[in-house]
Amino acid sequence: MCGIVGYLGNEKALNILLNGLSALEYRGYDSAGVSIKTDNNIHTVKTKGKIVDLMSSIIESKTDLNGTIGIGHTRWATHGSPTTNNAHPHFTDRVSIVHNGIIENYRELEELLKSNNITKKTDTDTEVIALLIDMFLKEKSPKDAFLSAIELLKGSYAIAAIFKDEDTIMLAKNESPLVIGLKENATYIASDISALIEYTDRFIFLEDKDIAFITKNSIEILDKNQEKVERKPKTVAWSKESAQKGGFKHFMIKEIAEESEAVRNTIQSRIDEKGNIYIDEEIGIDKQFLKNIDKITIVACGTSYYAGLVAKPILEQYTGVFVNVEIGSEFRYSSPIFSNNNLFIAISQSGETADTKESLRFAKEKGLKTLSIVNVKESAIARMADGCIYTLAGPEISVASTKAFVSQLAVLYMLAFYLGKIKGKNTKNQITELLKIPSKMQETFENSNKTVKDLAKKYHQYNNFLYLGRGLMHPIALEGALKLKEISYIHAEGYPAGEMKHGPIALIDENTPTVLVTPNIEPFYSKTISNAEEIKARNGKIIMLSDKDTAVADDMIKISAIDYEFTPFLYVIPLQLFAYYIALYLGHDIDQPRNLAKSVTVE
Ligand code: G6P
Repeated sequence: MCGIVGYLGNEKALNILLNGLSALEYRGYDSAGVSIKTDNNIHTVKTKGKIVDLMSSIIESKTDLNGTIGIGHTRWATHGSPTTNNAHPHFTDRVSIVHNGIIENYRELEELLKSNNITKKTDTDTEVIALLIDMFLKEKSPKDAFLSAIELLKGSYAIAAIFKDEDTIMLAKNESPLVIGLKENATYIASDISALIEYTDRFIFLEDKDIAFITKNSIEILDKNQEKVERKPKTVAWSKESAQKGGFKHFMIKEIAEESEAVRNTIQSRIDEKGNIYIDEEIGIDKQFLKNIDKITIVACGTSYYAGLVAKPILEQYTGVFVNVEIGSEFRYSSPIFSNNNLFIAISQSGETADTKESLRFAKEKGLKTLSIVNVKESAIARMADGCIYTLAGPEISVASTKAFVSQLAVLYMLAFYLGKIKGKNTKNQITELLKIPSKMQETFENSNKTVKDLAKKYHQYNNFLYLGRGLMHPIALEGALKLKEISYIHAEGYPAGEMKHGPIALIDENTPTVLVTPNIEPFYSKTISNAEEIKARNGKIIMLSDKDTAVADDMIKISAIDYEFTPFLYVIPLQLFAYYIALYLGHDIDQPRNLAKSVTVE
């Protein structure tokens, strides 16, 4: 949460900072600001609102922002409401900083500052960092003042600081991500590479407790022991176009339209037509160990958690071992029972989600073999696990996750078939079927788009929805309900269809439509149709997703018939579209829904 950017080079910093902030806006968008060094001054403009509001404020303020060194921030408020005063950068006459993370001991540090007659002017935790640096600057050089301040911090932080009297940017990182982009005569800084792919494909990924000093001619990095360290640049080729809307109205609809391609990219390079799967190196765990695993624990949050729930029965079917799927924020504080032969899997689009990351750390501390399934290259979760299988979905910008979800499914299915093979199962047919999924997904998208749009028009004014499904369609119903909540702000509950009788049925009336997700596959179909009859008997409206027409539904979204185990890939698409079009009819900010952020880097 929160995005930070920085630039030091020969060009004017302002546009580069604003571009970067626009690309990072999915990380937070309640206030924003920039600080730019000009000659011997630092000028700051900040405002409540989005980057467009910041642009207007910059024009109105007529501030001189012509320098070539600068930092910027887009905020998702944790401490202090989203006001202009609480917006970053936080600054004094001598130093200005931006921060992503939470300073857990900020109250103690406030006391320390007070005892030196320094008082805060904002409600944020971050301001203490600027004030501490400034306090130390009275006696120390900027470098030493920065080091002394950072030493006092407890919590998570990615910090960039600029100084009135130095042509330098100083960085500090702990738990929050921070990447340095390299180009001849210019250095870029950002929370993640999506802000920088326009400028470079060479990046240094800082490690926890690293500190960096960037000048025009040098980058000096100190590790956690404050010793000089070399962090080798890595090349990450994400195309510029993939992070642009490309003629679509929103990233979300573009990303739904890209789902078949995302799945194709994810599987094609790793599977051949003969049914072989080539993921040994990425998994990075000894095959003999994989043969003997006796339990798999999957941990994730949000949509990634639902991908785990879909994969549970598939993995269990092919590996024959129990699969436990847990939410990160619960798992990390639980007392799980592990054995030496357990495999731990973390799933995360961003590779940054704090609860998933800490769960992974916890599993590693317990000595488990760990694997991650991540979309953002070189992110913390990707680097922390013993092995990582990347979803090759490309940048996902819209806050509501879509193409990352189906790509996670693709990796999890591949993994199930791969582990199944190691354990002696013949999975050739399944692998061949998986290769056909992308074109079936494309068909589903094209065939359902118009129907779903019409249905969204019909239903967009209802205030409550129920989403029901059985078996593999249960997590798909949960995901459908989550999508609707996230971007339309309509209350929606996902439930196992059979459980409806134990509570949710009390909600049913003519004002609470039910989205029933049921392929024509027994035993699920008949049971779900019985649930549909129960809903009808209570005047509930039914939108049915199925490959079979039924008179009990008020409205149908027809999906082509497909093997049961692959149904999640197709059935989720119309549900994502339904949420999208409802939010569109309601006029919401689809890519940046209120209160949410794409990377939840705080607990
Ligand atoms: C946030 C996002 C969701 C995402 C979840 C987990 O809540 O808004 O779209 O599913 O975090 O994120 P991750 O990056 O770990 O998959």
